[in-house]
Amino acid sequence: MRPVVVLGYGMMPVDEHWNLSLRELAGNAALSALENAGTPPIDAIFIGNMMSGTANHQQHLGAYLADWIGMPMVEAVRIEAACASGAATFRAGLMAVASGEADSVLVTAAEKMTDSPSDEISAELATAADADWEVETGISFVGLNALLMQRYMHEYGWTKEHFAPFSINAHANGARNPNARFQKEIGLATYMNAAMVAPPINIMDASPVGDGAAACVLMAADMASHFSQNAIIEVAASASATDSLAVHDRNDALWLNAAYRSAIDAYSQAALSPAEIDLFELHDAFSIMAALSLEAAGFTERGSAPRMALDGEIGLLGRLPIATMGGLKARGHPVGATGMYQIAEVVQQLMHEAGKNQVDGARIGMAQNIGGSGSNILTHILRRVDL
Ligand code: COA
Repeated sequence: MRPVVVLGYGMMPVDEHWNLSLRELAGNAALSALENAGTPPIDAIFIGNMMSGTANHQQHLGAYLADWIGMPMVEAVRIEAACASGAATFRAGLMAVASGEADSVLVTAAEKMTDSPSDEISAELATAADADWEVETGISFVGLNALLMQRYMHEYGWTKEHFAPFSINAHANGARNPNARFQKEIGLATYMNAAMVAPPINIMDASPVGDGAAACVLMAADMASHFSQNAIIEVAASASATDSLAVHDRNDALWLNAAYRSAIDAYSQAALSPAEIDLFELHDAFSIMAALSLEAAGFTERGSAPRMALDGEIGLLGRLPIATMGGLKARGHPVGATGMYQIAEVVQQLMHEAGKNQVDGARIGMAQNIGGSGSNILTHILRRVDL
């Protein structure tokens, strides 16, 4: 396998985009990434998405995007892995270039959720869970995560208030990101008094529904020097693992085994330890997922993630900045696109283009994207190399 670099990135603001179709959202992100990359030739296109068949009555997204951006003869295919579709798409493009099958690829991920009313969206999101054994009981994704948070609080003695820093940090970072769905800081009182969705998860523990698209251009490292200037961002690791689809089939519901597996594979590929990661874009779809992800990825002991957050270690100036551009909680979670936003934001940080949210001197960034309630997880590590 040959080394691969990220040549460019593009992101649409996450919002309720009533005036843009799915094709315009995806196309604008793709064209922005191509321009950012210096418009290199493209051998293949991969597009990630979770629910366009039901939410937008549109399948066949490969040709849909290639046609719209004026690349009708280029190979193009869709990748789906529920909420992990974005990172799975990045990894598909990476493997195409690393294997030598393509020299440069465009990877885009898009989701337009607000075409459907919220009850339909909740039902569509639940298709990422086990239809026979979970969804059949009537439980939603928020409900599944509420059970995990209840159990975590019971096992480790934390109360709801102790999860507040995850949401407060995400909203503080989102407030300074023009692409974020929510650009307003919140405090403890707002967190504690927010509308309850499924106890103990209230609206400030949950990521919002929204529309968005992000894209990257990947190229073989030995061909990229012509397009790069000050620095290149190399893909140091890409790892993927699955776990049981249903939460109740796991021996330990509070341990994200696929997060652990993909993280240790990634550390091994990059020859790095958790202590060497400068920032972590984690999958904070719910506060409890942020906590479980930090623990499974080896950043803190089991049961201690709220301590890490309470001690200020997750802020932009902390030991491990997380959700640096707002995360899923405040930047937003257009489900199939989220993993690509996470990677694009890591690239933005490593290129030192993150503006007011810049992590000082960031050189190594990690992104972890979770599909379902921990059933399909990808971890990527990117490294800045100065030219
Ligand atoms: N955080 C903060 N504010 C939120 C929010 C969130 N997650 N979701 C909605 N809001 C705000 C809206 O901006 C709106 O504010 P406004 O009145 O000032 O305009 C208000 O709350 C009501 O918005 P609405 O869209 O009617 O909310 P809702 O009650 O239909 O949905 C949730 C709220 C939390 C139920 C919904 O966002 C949700 O289902 N989130 C989880 C999605 C999910 O499961 N994703 C997959 C995870 S793997």
